[in-house]
Amino acid sequence: MKIAVLGGDGYCGWATALYLSSRGHSVAIVDNFVRRLWDHELGVETLTPIRPLSERVRVWEELTGRTMEVFSGDVMDYDFVASTIQTFRPDAVIHFAEQRSAPYSMIDRKHAVFTQMNNVVGTLNLLFALREFSPDCHLVKLGTMGEYGTPNIDIEEGYITIEHNGRKDTLPYPKQPGSFYHLSKVHDSHNIMFACKIWGLRATDLNQGVVYGTITDETEMDERLVNRFDYDEVFGTVLNRFCVQAALGHPLTVYGRGGQTRGFLDIRDTVRCVELSCLHPAAPGECRVFNQFTEQFSVLDLAHMVQAAGKKLGMTVKIDHLPSPRVEAQEHYYNARHSKLVDLGLTPHLLSDSLLDSLIAVAVKYRERIDSSVFLPQVFWRESRNVRTRQTPVAAGAVRP
Ligand SMILES: NC(=O)c1ccc[n+]([C@@H]2O[C@H](COP(=O)([O-])OP(=O)(O)OC[C@H]3O[C@@H](n4cnc5c(N)ncnc54)[C@H](O)[C@@H]3O)[C@@H](O)[C@H]2O)c1
Repeated sequence: MKIAVLGGDGYCGWATALYLSSRGHSVAIVDNFVRRLWDHELGVETLTPIRPLSERVRVWEELTGRTMEVFSGDVMDYDFVASTIQTFRPDAVIHFAEQRSAPYSMIDRKHAVFTQMNNVVGTLNLLFALREFSPDCHLVKLGTMGEYGTPNIDIEEGYITIEHNGRKDTLPYPKQPGSFYHLSKVHDSHNIMFACKIWGLRATDLNQGVVYGTITDETEMDERLVNRFDYDEVFGTVLNRFCVQAALGHPLTVYGRGGQTRGFLDIRDTVRCVELSCLHPAAPGECRVFNQFTEQFSVLDLAHMVQAAGKKLGMTVKIDHLPSPRVEAQEHYYNARHSKLVDLGLTPHLLSDSLLDSLIAVAVKYRERIDSSVFLPQVFWRESRNVRTRQTPVAAGAVRP
């Protein structure tokens, strides 16, 4: 298939682009590199020394003989999106190209507005470009499990059948997102659903859980293909951060009691889920939703698992409970359905001791690059001021090819 990976220079996108290319698909990466600028804005760095996209792609092409096109530009720029679709003519577009950090969106008004503009406008541009130039192309859009929040009933995959006053209907599952970032994903979901209904577009909304890990078969082929590994309080995801903290002998920073339970998945399953979605496209007019995670854990479960893995490696790992910077339930019911991708053929990589060992090993390997000053939360949901409010978000559009 011809597959465009929007956000292909990012964490999930880079792993996905390589995987799809290795599977024989013809891949184009679309990115404006704004994620790299957000690191500069925040004064943080990925643990792993990632190379510029041009070098990454050159190394991949030399190693495999497979070509990969690159379109550098901003999905908020409609002309750019439209010309990319017209030039590449993809069978599927995978849309990862959004601002994906909840804390970033909660820094202040500017960062909330920026996040919603970047994400909602980018997706709208894509929907209009598909309608205009490629109405049969399948949109695979990354949403998040965070769209649902933590309701006191089971979470379904996108839709729920409800009986009310003697009548019955299947309706979008209620959303209770926990940040302006998560809200941007809810707005996207509504826009995509509407576009499928009125224009007959085909879409798959992947409500992804929290991704962990950095190694895939493809990134392991050469050090220069290494993927991002974010561990800071704004962009780091929790398990990656715990592994880095363990490697440094820093206490694991659990927010509150740590009973917050979420869906998680290995980066190797992210790439497979995306491919499965492309290979089994939605029907014209259909907006289907898959919950893309493989296991659910509480934050404290993960801390205990990292503690045990560290102990086996001879490390002493302590657990600290910090006041939660977020507004979220610290103990709650959580049971989310996630069978549709398994039905399509996903065989999950479950979180194992060996995976935890390898994650800690990555952290140990790059120990010299760890900056422990970025572990502690600095963005608080209820406070209007924090150390980061001095900063202006790097506007999408600042970077041009
Ligand atoms: N990483 C996770 O744990 C996780 C969990 C659930 C959902 N997701 C979703 O998956 C997607 C990818 O996440 P990620 O972790 O790879 O994020 P990332 O920040 O590493 O990558 C996103 C990429 O998109 C690019 N981008 C952002 N705005 C753009 C714009 N306006 N124009 C062009 N390019 C732009 C960035 O430069 C970056 O390379 C996001 O939509 C995110 O919400 C991620």
